[in-house]
Amino acid sequence: MTTAVQKAPRINSEDAVGIAAELYDLNVSAAPLPSERDQNFYCEAGDEQFVLKIANSGEALEFIELQNQLIHFLTANKIELEFPRIVRTRTGEDISTIKDQNGRQHFVRLLTWVDGICFARAGPHGRKLLASLGRALAQMDAALAEFDHAAAHRSFYWDLRNAAMARELIRLLPESRRSLVERFFDEWEKIDWSRLRSSVIHNDGNDYNVLVSKPEQRVAAILDYGDVVYTATVCELAVALAYVMLDKPDPIGAAAQVVAAYHEIYPLTEPEIDSLYTLAVTRLCCSVCYAAKQTRDAPDNEYLNISNAPAWSLLDKLSDMPLDWPTKVFRYACGLPVVREQTSHLRPAPSELLEARKKHLGPSLSISYQAPLHIIAGSRQYLYDSEGRRYLDCVNNVAHVGHGHPYVVRAATEQMAVLNTNTRYLHELLIEYSERLTATLPEPLSVVYLVCSGSEANELALRLARAHTGRNDVIVVDGAYHGNTSAMIDLSPYKFDGPGGRGCPSWVHKVSMPDVYRGAYHGSDAGKLFADDISREARQISDALAVFFCESALGCGGQIILPSGYLREAYAAVRAAGGVCVADEVQTGFGRAGTHFWMFETQGVVPDIVTLGKPIGNGHPLGAVITTPEIAASFANGMEYFNTFGGNPVSCAAGLGVLDVIRDEELQNNALEVGEYLKQALRELQNQHSAIGDVRGLGLFLGIEFVRDRETLEAGGSEAAYVVEQMKERGVLLSTDGPFHNVIKIKPPLVFSKADADFLVSHLDAVLKEDSPAIQN
Ligand SMILES: Cc1ncc(COP(=O)(O)O)c(C=O)c1O
Repeated sequence: MTTAVQKAPRINSEDAVGIAAELYDLNVSAAPLPSERDQNFYCEAGDEQFVLKIANSGEALEFIELQNQLIHFLTANKIELEFPRIVRTRTGEDISTIKDQNGRQHFVRLLTWVDGICFARAGPHGRKLLASLGRALAQMDAALAEFDHAAAHRSFYWDLRNAAMARELIRLLPESRRSLVERFFDEWEKIDWSRLRSSVIHNDGNDYNVLVSKPEQRVAAILDYGDVVYTATVCELAVALAYVMLDKPDPIGAAAQVVAAYHEIYPLTEPEIDSLYTLAVTRLCCSVCYAAKQTRDAPDNEYLNISNAPAWSLLDKLSDMPLDWPTKVFRYACGLPVVREQTSHLRPAPSELLEARKKHLGPSLSISYQAPLHIIAGSRQYLYDSEGRRYLDCVNNVAHVGHGHPYVVRAATEQMAVLNTNTRYLHELLIEYSERLTATLPEPLSVVYLVCSGSEANELALRLARAHTGRNDVIVVDGAYHGNTSAMIDLSPYKFDGPGGRGCPSWVHKVSMPDVYRGAYHGSDAGKLFADDISREARQISDALAVFFCESALGCGGQIILPSGYLREAYAAVRAAGGVCVADEVQTGFGRAGTHFWMFETQGVVPDIVTLGKPIGNGHPLGAVITTPEIAASFANGMEYFNTFGGNPVSCAAGLGVLDVIRDEELQNNALEVGEYLKQALRELQNQHSAIGDVRGLGLFLGIEFVRDRETLEAGGSEAAYVVEQMKERGVLLSTDGPFHNVIKIKPPLVFSKADADFLVSHLDAVLKEDSPAIQN
């Protein structure tokens, strides 16, 4: 391998000023810029800024031409990145030449300066910026798929296909480091290049070549086209990831944000995803090997050492990780099953499973869809059936941070391998989790009981309320569902008024559903008027009233968003009558509301007891009750509260993992942004299709109500069911609910993206446009 350092022109700033004057007629001031092989100068002429680029003498003319053509091509492609303009010489040339003192010829170009802060200095690198980098690279690669140039087909030492050249330099590394690097090069050897797509790529999205517009947290430009090469397309992303991972507390998590955004714009193939990590880490290995050689050859070139120390510390960090972990995370980032599933021919047919199910499982279990789905894997917001078909999951709010999120899976499985026992022993995870959970809640909600489901959480909430008030009765909202246990069925009009139900028990008092679409009140004072119903009820039973149970938004009731002021008035009335207030956040909690972490916060109230479930463990059976020290004290009447599984260390690890991911992936904000975007798009659809009577929701908790007549509000239950079936055929999973089963529920994992929203809306539009007797528009 020959690097061109020896052939770099020996030109100083004074020479650069002369070159600018002579070739470009420009009167500039000049300062040198760092470069590996060439010499570049920052030039200012009045308020214009340029880069004077003097190539090393070994560079071929056609390679310089390639770079210029690439700039022209990408500029013309109108991708959302800025590119420099090529300034012509006074004689109209794009490329000129100079001779250095040794008589060697160098090609010269003048490019306009592109403003921005380099990525390396634009930290901290939040989700928005990382996603922007992924999108920028993806747009560039998508455009370059149509570009070619003979000079790009070259043997270049920074081409990751040629990493063997770097590997030969391992002997120059400190002896203690060699095996670490060898191990990664061994992985590189295993890459099957024939399975990877090829194209011309930029090949050097390093943190000094990527420019950022800081206020917008957006990548504005990717500069320096001197490493352009025709190679495996995925190397583009791999190179950028090597630099993204530098100095990050969680390098793989940061890289995954870039990968996810890239994949959304320019989907990676499975072999590309599976080789991505190896390629990224190979780039780091190449960097340290070449740096070792170049430091030996040119000890005074500072640029060569720029990323050396962080690269070593990153390599150390990565070498402590199981080799397959990053690929699992990247697969997840792309919505692929993290663990590859067996092929379909080894599986029983769905019809066999259905038969066996009928034989061995209680017939009161329901199953979704006319032709039931045999789902065998999940990743992010996607589910996969036994035929390998992918479905966009728009309903599963249990897989809150995404199906099979590898961080949550790892947290739970690692703890499972160490210890799983009950709360009768001291354990730091129980404390840490309780502290983290209560930190998300307002005072005085500071005492936690961990349980195993939402039903169990509500059961315990009922016991707490009764113990505290010494009373028995409960006010519930019509249409509510609070769980599957005996007492919770008694508290759930959704069940006791439904098929097989035995009606409202004497100790339960039902108030009307605060539904501003279908209910009695609609205007700005609807919240207060609906709450008056509760005041009346509370006054009537004041000696008996223990507790008011209310979901912070009604799920089974049909995605009903509580009108403003409702809980404030209701809580005041209940408390005045001596009762306490339970917020059932089982459906709605953990950032889904977008604006707030808990949905009850949107009502400006503080409950006495909060119950949590579903999303809390991302699928691990976990629930929680959080209350005040006062209520907890009333419950401590001498009877032990023991829960075999509640609060075990594995559950705590899963719960902590969920909280970490919500924070690190900024999922509450995603719920807000994507939820608003989707609601808006659905409202536009409502304008076109009269079958949609109402679109409502907060964050990623949305409902679409179907009607046959917008005046009479005759419910379109069969229409909603038809749409759900058709959407399933199109790869979108939805479900219906509400008293008339005419409301389509949307409550996906919070990793749901705008692209998913577009996919959902375009298919919904297509279904509603179909000429079907099932729907009248
Ligand atoms: C609002 C609400 N509360 C409680 C529950 C019961 O939770 P689980 O099924 O985990 O027992 C549910 C379940 O759907 C629910 O929607």
